[in-house]
Amino acid sequence: MADDPKKAVLELAGTKVEMPVKSGTIGPDVVDITKLYAQTGAFTFDPGFTSTAACESKITYIDGDEGVLLYRGYPIEQLAEHGDFLETCYLLYYGELPTPSQRKEFDKNITYHTMVHEQMTRFYQGFRRDAHPMAVMVAVVGAMSAFYHDSTDINDARQREIACHRMIAKLPTIAAMAYKYHIGQPFVYPQNSLSYAANFLRMCFAVPCEEYVVNPILARAMDRIFILHADHEQNASTSTVRLAGSSGANPFACIAAGIACLWGPAHGGANEAALEMLQQIGDPAKVPEFIAKVKDKTSHIRLMGFGHRVYKNYDPRAKIMQKTAHEVLTELGIKDDPLLEVARELEKAALSDQYFIERKLYPNVDFYSGIILRALGFPTSMFTVLFALARTVGWISQWKEMIEDPGQKIGRPRQLYTGSPKRDYVPLTMRGK
Ligand code: CMC
Repeated sequence: MADDPKKAVLELAGTKVEMPVKSGTIGPDVVDITKLYAQTGAFTFDPGFTSTAACESKITYIDGDEGVLLYRGYPIEQLAEHGDFLETCYLLYYGELPTPSQRKEFDKNITYHTMVHEQMTRFYQGFRRDAHPMAVMVAVVGAMSAFYHDSTDINDARQREIACHRMIAKLPTIAAMAYKYHIGQPFVYPQNSLSYAANFLRMCFAVPCEEYVVNPILARAMDRIFILHADHEQNASTSTVRLAGSSGANPFACIAAGIACLWGPAHGGANEAALEMLQQIGDPAKVPEFIAKVKDKTSHIRLMGFGHRVYKNYDPRAKIMQKTAHEVLTELGIKDDPLLEVARELEKAALSDQYFIERKLYPNVDFYSGIILRALGFPTSMFTVLFALARTVGWISQWKEMIEDPGQKIGRPRQLYTGSPKRDYVPLTMRGK
């Protein structure tokens, strides 16, 4: 990115400071404020980072007004239609789509790493069976650094690459084990002859006493869901991974931090919350009543799966999700899914309501994903786990980009202090009753 000759001028307490304005390939310009504190003694204030670019990145681009999402320049619609998840992983991590020989090599590397250390299987026994699978994911992925020490040297490019391969390969195994443990079934080992998504479905739904044949249409839908979730620029969990990594923490610990952040209902946990909301509404006739509750601010109820910090238009991933939902339900012979009817009615009602129109609230990726995942056989508690599995490649690609950036510094935001000014300690006996 070349420095733009444009400058921004800020006047503060009679002093004028000039700040460089930088332009990316596409997207808004950024005002470079790195010298602002040195020049003026003032910080900027932007809780929630609504106007702040925290890094430079070449991985993912979002145009929230137009509803555009690009991975390394490629539109998400094209990748979802023509590509597959492992190719998307290669693209995100290495920056280009693989050639046939690169693809073959990458597939070999990933399948080579699909099993987890046998001792890791015992790690699960320490959890209660009713633990939320995301709690298990945070712990087990964090524990990978205790099992794979030979890929934790962040200054060694080859170790970084092996850590990446390990995480892409093992996350499905770890996620499927979290599910199997939760429902009290034996773990199913990976089968490397299957595709990434088909192997994952098999590890989740096969049992040792019966043959399990993966339905290719359902495997394709699973793969597409993984593609749609693979990366999303500097969202909360990705920023968490970058911030954790900026201190030099090992990649497994950083991804565990990302998983913890993703769990929240405003972020990855929204897919679980969206399906629960559809189930609670239960009947399209009850949609107007629910919309009225959402609009009543005292209710503190949000329309889950709607709204986005960046998209002020239809989330392009939601459109693909909606199409995939139809494909999956048709394949499974589910003609009238009442939840799909509720979702369609909710979408119609919200998109024609002034409250949502004024605030530019549209369906996001989570609005339809729950309907598909439920039809595939996953319980709601697994929804965010699937998001974490798919997002791992995005996190690790962003982490690698950060580590390889020569200007990388530890992330250390400042604050506007509004607490007590300096005061003297008062002994306990002199503090009243
Ligand atoms: N339902 C009802 N009102 C909403 C919603 C919603 N889903 N989202 C935003 N608003 C209102 C909000 O009350 C506020 O109204 P007002 O201006 O009157 O105070 C206005 O819209 C702006 O909202 P905000 O909270 O300032 O916007 P934000 O950019 O901080 O929040 C969001 C973005 C995604 C957290 C929010 O839209 C939300 O909570 N959505 C529901 C949860 C959800 O679906 N999350 C998944 C996001 S996509 C996947 C992911 O990133 O993990």
